[in-house]
Amino acid sequence: MRLQHCHNFHDFRRLAKRRLPGPIFNYIDGAADDEVTLRRNTAAFEDCDLVPNVLRGVAAVDLSVTVMGQKLALPVYCSPTALQRLFHHDGERAVAAAAAKYGTMFGVSSLGTVSVEELRKAHATPQAYQFYFHKDRGLNRTMLQRAKEAGVNVMMLTVDSITGGNRERDLRTGFSIPFRLTLGGMAQFVIRPMWGLNYVTHERFKLPQLDEHVDMSGGAMSIGRYFTEMLDPSMTWDDVAEMVRLWDGQFCLKGVMSVEDAKRAAEIGCTGIILSNHGGRQLDGSRTGFDQLAEVVDAVGDRIDVIMDGGVQRGTHVLKALSLGAKAVGVGRYYLFPLAAAGQAGVERALGLMRAELERDMKLMGCTSVDQLGRGNLRFR
Ligand code: LAC
Repeated sequence: MRLQHCHNFHDFRRLAKRRLPGPIFNYIDGAADDEVTLRRNTAAFEDCDLVPNVLRGVAAVDLSVTVMGQKLALPVYCSPTALQRLFHHDGERAVAAAAAKYGTMFGVSSLGTVSVEELRKAHATPQAYQFYFHKDRGLNRTMLQRAKEAGVNVMMLTVDSITGGNRERDLRTGFSIPFRLTLGGMAQFVIRPMWGLNYVTHERFKLPQLDEHVDMSGGAMSIGRYFTEMLDPSMTWDDVAEMVRLWDGQFCLKGVMSVEDAKRAAEIGCTGIILSNHGGRQLDGSRTGFDQLAEVVDAVGDRIDVIMDGGVQRGTHVLKALSLGAKAVGVGRYYLFPLAAAGQAGVERALGLMRAELERDMKLMGCTSVDQLGRGNLRFR
């Protein structure tokens, strides 16, 4: 199978699986515990149906939205994800370039493999910075300051990873950062020679957002262990309120689920929240962003931008979320598998397919702009 034969999420996933060493594929594909939430994230969209209107003159469709002060050509953005140069040697560079081409926002992770400064200079499209609150307060201050100086548009503080999720696939494969070739890994290297060749012939793996503060020479650690050992489980609303003040710009919490927390986020001055369960990778059995969307939008939608992510694989999933009042929708695996499959060309193809689906589906819904979508367009079974 080749890139031009990829027509949807599943095709890209299959191609990525063929290209990646098993531990890396399973790191992306996997989730916590029994992966119930991972499955529910996508299944949730199937509990309701779109109710289209017809004969409304839909020759031209405008897909643009404004979210957290950013004008996006698409209501879909690339959520920040970690370690992208492990998936393809161009990593974040490829994702940022593809997002820029489609006029949408991309996120850079604290655990990103290309620096926030380099990416900010390379593209004019809005950039979000995913922040992990570390035990090392000096590191937190430096990260915030660097992001500010770089010109990051949106600060996204992850709040659902106060401790490591139980990723059993990673425990089995021994997946760790920096990626190390164990004996089992060697075998993967041999059966995935192109990935291995690219990995060793390109720039050395590093985590430039953290480099001076986190010493990786002590050996490899799993992502779960990283969260548990490096991130600060004592973080509270007061810490976040201080960060919001320091940042003094667009600030959202990623990983809010309850109405109570949504209200609190608005009270401390956040300009957005992302209803997210971290792709099912943290608390298994957690509610999904989509299931929670209506009640959160009803409670705080007039005060802050409500965004959701998790399980989005189709244009119709996005339209359902927008109909409930989401201002935009984040995707993760949706662009990571294409990245792994074919680098920038892969991400561009995935975003291109998403845009084509959105355009087609908007026309079929009888809508020419995103603000025409509302609760009346959706019926739960
Ligand atoms: C993960 C982190 C790093 O889910 O976001 O693996």
